[in-house]
Amino acid sequence: MTKPTSRQTVLTGITTTGIPHLGNYVGAIRPAIESSHSDDVRSFYFLADYHALVKNRDPARLRESSLAVAATWLALGLDTDRAVFYRQSDIPEIPELSWIISSVTAKGLMNRAHAYKAAVQENEDSGSNDPDKGITMALFGYPVLMAADILMFSAHKVPVGRDQIQHVEMARDIAQRFNHIYGDTFVIPEAVVGEDTAVLTGLDGRKMSKSYDNTIPLFEPAKKLRKLVMKIKTNSLEPGEPKDPDDCTLFDIYQAFATADETAAYRKKLEAGMSWGDAKQELFEYLDAHLEGPRGEYEKLTSDPAYVEAVLKAGAEKAREHSLALIKRVREAVGIAALG
Ligand code: TRP
Repeated sequence: MTKPTSRQTVLTGITTTGIPHLGNYVGAIRPAIESSHSDDVRSFYFLADYHALVKNRDPARLRESSLAVAATWLALGLDTDRAVFYRQSDIPEIPELSWIISSVTAKGLMNRAHAYKAAVQENEDSGSNDPDKGITMALFGYPVLMAADILMFSAHKVPVGRDQIQHVEMARDIAQRFNHIYGDTFVIPEAVVGEDTAVLTGLDGRKMSKSYDNTIPLFEPAKKLRKLVMKIKTNSLEPGEPKDPDDCTLFDIYQAFATADETAAYRKKLEAGMSWGDAKQELFEYLDAHLEGPRGEYEKLTSDPAYVEAVLKAGAEKAREHSLALIKRVREAVGIAALG
């Protein structure tokens, strides 16, 4: 058993269902990499590829996304000597734990999961007479697998977006129930929602999200990046007319990347009537200058998948030092053990 330390374990998963965009960077990747540099935390970051199966039945896309997500984190400077960086599917103890904890998870708890309820609601709204139409057991049991991810590594803190808070609360419930029945085994985790991390606005002015198809991928080639920035929705104010930075997607994105001084200068120019065309060009140039370095690194990594694979495998080896020890205790706790 690992000795208890005062270090906090921070863990989060990234579903491999797409290509990381500016919003992912600002909202999740950047804070995670920053926090991994602190000596007070032990970080576990992983590709949640089993979770990705819930929404993705295209094997090529799943594979492409796993490589893109891994390469993105590495290109942006994740230090894999400090953080344990692995792929969920490389840790066989996770699905094993998922099954075991499902035996203490009330079905009624899962009935209350937002994602499941939304799917049922959609069926009802579309007039289907089967409320569970198209809903798989993987969608229904998603929070159990996520609880296994979290409990497996005795995470204290789980940084997530608002939409995932309920899942972390379910993991708490499940851990408490297990501990109550079988004795103290799991750390009770806590969700952390970055209050000050920016939620980026997307091309159409709504939150940048792959489900709205309004994202700017992080590592598009410069030309493509420029094209996307030019597509950002603005209003019809003419050049020379003052623009309101606080109601402006361009400003929102600029601010998420730039220093306070640079941001203040950009604000001033908008207020002084800079044209939308110039404002876009300036944003593009800023982003391009800042993304250029990691973009080169990203391109190198994605063209060498064997290297990325080796990094993930090394991470899995480290992760399994924990998962093997924990699953042993869990098996013993529930009575799945050698007979003699
Ligand atoms: N469900 C999370 C999301 O969609 C991803 C995830 C899977 C996760 N397992 C996790 C996040 C464990 C935190 C901890 O964002």
